Amino acid sequence: SVRQLTDTLSRPVRDLRLSVTDRCNFRCAYCMPRELFGDDYAFMPRTELLTFEEMSRLVRLFTGLGVQKVRLTGGEPLLRKNLNELVQELRTIPGVQDMGLTTNGLLLGQHAEALYQAGLRRLNISLDALTPSIFGQLNGRGVQPQHILKQIDYAQSLGFRIKINMVVQKGINDEEILRMAEYFRDKGITLRFIEFMDAGSGNGWSYDKVVTQAEILQQLQSRYDLVPAEHNIYGEVATYYRYRGTRTEVGFITSVSRSFCSSCTRARLSSDGKLYTCLFASSGYDLRQLVRGGATDEELQDIIADIWEHRTDRYSDLRTAQTAASCRRIGMSYIGG
Ligand code: GTP
Ligand code: 5AD
Ligand code: SF4
Ligand code: SF4
Repeated sequence: SVRQLTDTLSRPVRDLRLSVTDRCNFRCAYCMPRELFGDDYAFMPRTELLTFEEMSRLVRLFTGLGVQKVRLTGGEPLLRKNLNELVQELRTIPGVQDMGLTTNGLLLGQHAEALYQAGLRRLNISLDALTPSIFGQLNGRGVQPQHILKQIDYAQSLGFRIKINMVVQKGINDEEILRMAEYFRDKGITLRFIEFMDAGSGNGWSYDKVVTQAEILQQLQSRYDLVPAEHNIYGEVATYYRYRGTRTEVGFITSVSRSFCSSCTRARLSSDGKLYTCLFASSGYDLRQLVRGGATDEELQDIIADIWEHRTDRYSDLRTAQTAASCRRIGMSYIGG
């Protein structure tokens, strides 16, 4: 039976974003700037990472509190060994109604088939540009967009439902908006434009660098006829439009211009087992310590319930240039977005 749980703003816990590694094979400047994440950067030692067993147990406990949807993130989740085994385990948890994975796509060729066989059906793939020089610069590793496009085609051919995430930064990739829209419209794949957020510390964010939904929509409407598409999924982060005359949608994630905290049902678990109740939190609650210390299911659930019931987070509702300049935030690569 599921315990009905709400926080101080009447929000239930419905989604769990599970980071499976803090490592990444890209170095996007807005997430893992090379100055901070150099060759000698100390990533989490393996013993600090939750094992698949520990993750499965926690997911099961979270479903008992209302979680229905699990998203695997990183860092880059495909760097976690044998990830398909975790997918397989999570799939057998009755409360998990939906599972997705967010990836940069680089390693799909090696892992997509095993993941599909394990039961994963949804992929969100990040791609910020189609122009080789721009994308190579953005990912910090010189990876070519053509390579990621090939992985996307491959994953699509296996049967995955795919969405593309594009973080838009003014003066950096905003001229890619129409090119990206056209490419993915033709492919029948949903592209979501994400407003650049002040996540982590030192990602160079300022209001000047945000391209809002309104600005992007204006560009799109100069070329396409768009109809609002209602999804009516409580707590969904994106708003969608459909290209008229097609079944293809395009979406917006407007954490800056129109925040969605009032229906935020997301809990986040870092790869070392800390529970965060907001993407912009400055600290998390160490569940791993309890798990490894022998806490019972009931004890763990009571503690998680207590944390959720006291939750007050609504960072994006309250954002100002001042809050954005504060440096007390967990990193995006650590918590997985
Ligand atoms: P779907 O299940 O496909 O809707 O996935 P999703 O959009 O929830 O997950 P994804 O990992 O693709 O995230 C897309 C973008 O939304 C990323 O930039 C995330 O950082 C951002 N995002 C997701 N959840 C939240 C949230 O609770 N608050 C904020 N501010 N941004 C979020
Ligand atoms: N603002 C908005 N989106 C971001 N992402 C990473 N950093 C930021 C940021 N500062 C995106 C990634 C990925 C998703 C999980 O989060 O590009 O698509
Ligand atoms: Fe890696 Fe994603 Fe962060 Fe880029 S945004 S560095 S791909 S975790
Ligand atoms: Fe949820 Fe925090 Fe994002 Fe608001 S800023 S939607 S509370 S994660």
